[in-house]
Amino acid sequence: MARLFGLQPPALETCRILELGCGDGSHLIPIALTLPGSRSVGVDLARAPVEAGRKIISGLHLGNVVLHQLDLRKVDESFGQFDYIIAHGLYSWAPPETRDRLLAICGTNLAPDGIAFVSYNTYPGCHMRDMMRQMLLYQTRGLSDPELKLKHAYALINFLASSAAKPPALAEEVESLQSRSASALFHDDLAETNQPVYFHQFAEHAGRHGLEYVGEAEFKALLHGGLSDETARTLKLVSGGDRIQEQQYLDFLRCRRFRQTLLCRRPAALPERPDAGAVMHLRAASSLQPVSDGADAASDAEAEFRSPAGHTLKTNLPLAKAVLFSLSGRWPASVAFGDLAAEVALRLAGAPGDTVALAELLLRLSLSGVVELHALPPSFTLEVSARPRAFRLARLQAAQGRSVTTLRHTTVDLEDDLSRWMVSLLDGTKNRRELQHGLEAFAAGRDRPGAVRAEELERNLHSMARLALLEA
Ligand SMILES: C[S@@+](CC[C@H](N)C(=O)[O-])C[C@H]1O[C@@H](n2cnc3c(N)ncnc32)[C@H](O)[C@@H]1O
Repeated sequence: MARLFGLQPPALETCRILELGCGDGSHLIPIALTLPGSRSVGVDLARAPVEAGRKIISGLHLGNVVLHQLDLRKVDESFGQFDYIIAHGLYSWAPPETRDRLLAICGTNLAPDGIAFVSYNTYPGCHMRDMMRQMLLYQTRGLSDPELKLKHAYALINFLASSAAKPPALAEEVESLQSRSASALFHDDLAETNQPVYFHQFAEHAGRHGLEYVGEAEFKALLHGGLSDETARTLKLVSGGDRIQEQQYLDFLRCRRFRQTLLCRRPAALPERPDAGAVMHLRAASSLQPVSDGADAASDAEAEFRSPAGHTLKTNLPLAKAVLFSLSGRWPASVAFGDLAAEVALRLAGAPGDTVALAELLLRLSLSGVVELHALPPSFTLEVSARPRAFRLARLQAAQGRSVTTLRHTTVDLEDDLSRWMVSLLDGTKNRRELQHGLEAFAAGRDRPGAVRAEELERNLHSMARLALLEA
């Protein structure tokens, strides 16, 4: 994102990272593994998650990440400078003094070209959440036992849900609470402190610490797409070229509740719009898959693509079809801009590639969430080798539970115990025969004796690869 706005952030491969409120290190540990030349420091007040994280770090013999059990207010200049500072799920949930320290640390401990990531709840959208929060706080008043608090909270949610005559705004909020996990309900809506802010207030607070707004971590969150021409014109007029004002009015339009903002140190003259030219130095990926095979990219025929979440995109634009056909075959891997340009030119019957048009299209598609842009090549492989090796962290996690981290730094749930066993077996030393024996022994131990068929093993290995669980 920083590069798209003309900045030159420090190289990821050798960067220094500080995470405030790092919990059990679930962000920093996969980074430390996939970027061995990076160095990370995490700080969290809570003892239990820090200890759990340290156990994983020592189990993986990682020397480039440390977690400190510490109040972030104790972080000072002696910690040194960091290229990237992360504070996720902290700003809105911390008392005023702590949130001020959080931004002060970003202001003093961020390297000159560094980038800070701070997430927080925003108004106006959170007024709706506040409505539910106030009801829940009333319902759970005087209770301190977490289980009891949750029990009473759910009693109110179910009571509201059961009423047929709800105003639509209430129905929507109740539904959203029902879809949240108990842990999110407890730590978020029932939290002692949960203070959303308007974006302009956050930007002003950051400014007081010498920090400038860069953009949002999720590209599509910057979205101007979906606005009618007239709304877009009025927005431009009311914001008068001021990026903060423009984002604030966008929050009004979208009734936004949450932001993941990127900040840099001042002074930084950032352009109003991201630069498509920067896309030429990045990589692209897309999870969209063609609905039917054989559509011709070069013709004017319409082709349909579908995302894993079921959203569809139809286009007859040859360039867009060629891009999406190329990326769909490589998902979840990304492809460098130059390679994509060459492949697209081939699909369009060798027509001379217009790289500027391709970069602009990729930028538009990433703004609408269709394409991901990446700075680094993937650290996973889609090819299953003779002795496949699963991500070290996932192997450790698979031996303990169902949730594992992928090499894309996402989390997936491995539902059945055989898949979990298989991940833990993939240490790069076993061939197919040894894997088959290992799985059969495991199944027999669970009173499910039987042969594991070679095709079944192969299918499972390929689905592990598609989940980005196999190391390159
Ligand atoms: C909602 S959790 C987010 C954890 C992690 N960043 C994540 O995204 O999964 C907030 C974390 O901030 C920590 N925290 C709260 N106040 C803190 C403080 N003053 N100093 C350090 N950590 C703090 C909490 O202990 C908790 O682990």
